[in-house]
Amino acid sequence: MKALGVDIGGTGIKGAPVSLEKGTLLAERVRIATPEPATPHAVADVVKKLVEKFQWNGAIGCGFPSTIKNGVIQSEANLDPSWAGCDAAQILENHTGCRLMIINDADAAGLAEMEFGAGKGQRGVVLLLTFGTGIGSSLFSNGRLIPNTELGRLKIRGREVGLWASARARESKHLTWKKWAKRVNEFLEQLEAMLSPDLIIIGGGVSKHHEKFFPLLKSRSPILPAQLENEAGIIGAALAARNIARTPKPTKTSKAA
Ligand code: BGC
Repeated sequence: MKALGVDIGGTGIKGAPVSLEKGTLLAERVRIATPEPATPHAVADVVKKLVEKFQWNGAIGCGFPSTIKNGVIQSEANLDPSWAGCDAAQILENHTGCRLMIINDADAAGLAEMEFGAGKGQRGVVLLLTFGTGIGSSLFSNGRLIPNTELGRLKIRGREVGLWASARARESKHLTWKKWAKRVNEFLEQLEAMLSPDLIIIGGGVSKHHEKFFPLLKSRSPILPAQLENEAGIIGAALAARNIARTPKPTKTSKAA
């Protein structure tokens, strides 16, 4: 079984067909720059380009940087204010002609890591944090996702941690690994006090430099780097579409019946 995984981000929209049994990409991923402004229709055009590129007509799973309920975007998503309240699943389905599932991008990465990566077989409470332009979070209890946690929205001393301790903040403020790790440690301390995780997985682009900052992290829970790196978002988005990939596409006749 396969699905097209699409990861919609602030700077790039990436996609590839994914084997849902193996959690691997079935073709080299394609990245298209996020349009500016990233309005629903402009983004839907890019997703359609990916569909055309892979000549896809099966199920699609899309990761999106916002909380999502029943396909509807709950906030403006850092992409464009016009996304708030949009039925993104419907818009993308209409544009691509494919059945589609949409999920928070960090939740998508979490699904992939839990099934094929650092969280495989882990019971108890597992927390995945993605450090990139912002901070995404994904929380699992005995393997079951608790969606839309948005822990990067927490405030530490009046500052939103997703802005203050993200990988982008490290780069734009030219923070040393040590200074940045101090911020991350403050965040981890809060999370541990609230959630007592059995495992914390650190993902996002920065996880490939884990040997630079893991020794600086302080945590009571074990911490592991994500294993699927920048493919987790695509693989997990595809996994989120597993149920629709399983059910055959209704034909015109069966719809009418
Ligand atoms: C968004 C989250 C997203 C994270 C990572 C945050 O700004 O609010 O929904 O998961 O960025 O992209």
